[in-house]
Amino acid sequence: MAYETLLIETKDQVTTITLNRPQSKNAMNPQMHFDMCDALAQVERDDDCRVLVITGAGDSFCAGMDVKEYFYDTEGKPEARAAARKAAFEWMFKRLRLLPKPTIAAVNGWCFGGAFAWLAVCDFAVASETATFGLSEVNWGIIPAGGVTKLVSTLLAPRDALYLIMTGRPITGKQAAEMRLVNSAVPSEKLAEATLDLADELKKKNPTVLAYCKEVFRVDQNLSLEDALAFETEKWTELDAAAKKTWHKGVKQFKEERTLRPGLETYRWKE
Ligand code: ACO
Repeated sequence: MAYETLLIETKDQVTTITLNRPQSKNAMNPQMHFDMCDALAQVERDDDCRVLVITGAGDSFCAGMDVKEYFYDTEGKPEARAAARKAAFEWMFKRLRLLPKPTIAAVNGWCFGGAFAWLAVCDFAVASETATFGLSEVNWGIIPAGGVTKLVSTLLAPRDALYLIMTGRPITGKQAAEMRLVNSAVPSEKLAEATLDLADELKKKNPTVLAYCKEVFRVDQNLSLEDALAFETEKWTELDAAAKKTWHKGVKQFKEERTLRPGLETYRWKE
């Protein structure tokens, strides 16, 4: 399916969504939020997609919300503003955050403001060393909202989070990796390769197990230890059925056949 604001391609079971408004540095206008809702529903259904990568066209990853089309043009139009916000929250915090497949943000350039919301809910992030990140909201008189402050305070050490939020100063991809805002930063010409290396690693894992790992991680964040123990036990049992006890294969490969060292490699779950 073709989208006004996105490009989508699947190759070797890795689907890449490219934000495609390079003339606006891939700022997110309402149409992009509507398109993302639809595209992520498609990705979830697509059995050929094992890993999702999101990146940006041109020299920008995502320059945050389109300040004109998202904020300014919807002033005095509560229905339009609400529809755009609903779609934004839907794709970022439900469809993307809870997608039962691994997700990787490949940060190729500018990354500002609202882009941090979905950067934070991607499972992994790899950046170009020369990408530029910033919470620029304070630079033009608003606060980082739409989940950004909450997510940044969960992801980063408080001093780093407040530094970004209150100074609005930009940082490089290298600094973002040091802050653990992203998993790693690589020279820009190596970004695609580093992203695909990670995707390949994830593709080796049993996808059902990965989906459960992710769901438990997301839900546990909001639970007490007692509730998390109960939830993890419940999910362990559910996975046992969903993954058809393939862990028995792992034990056999390790203990009987001696063809696997699970501390160092993945079991052959497809056999
Ligand atoms: N919203 C709307 N338009 C944008 C946005 C944005 N967030 N970011 C860039 N654009 C537009 C520019 O207005 C410009 O449009 P024009 O060609 O019609 O004049 C075009 O994209 C290219 O941007 P330039 O500013 O010309 O590119 P430059 O390379 O000089 O700078 C930079 C790039 C640093 C990204 C700059 O555009 C910028 O500061 N953008 C705003 C980033 C920002 O603060 N985002 C957070 C928004 S708040 C939020 O997300 C909640």
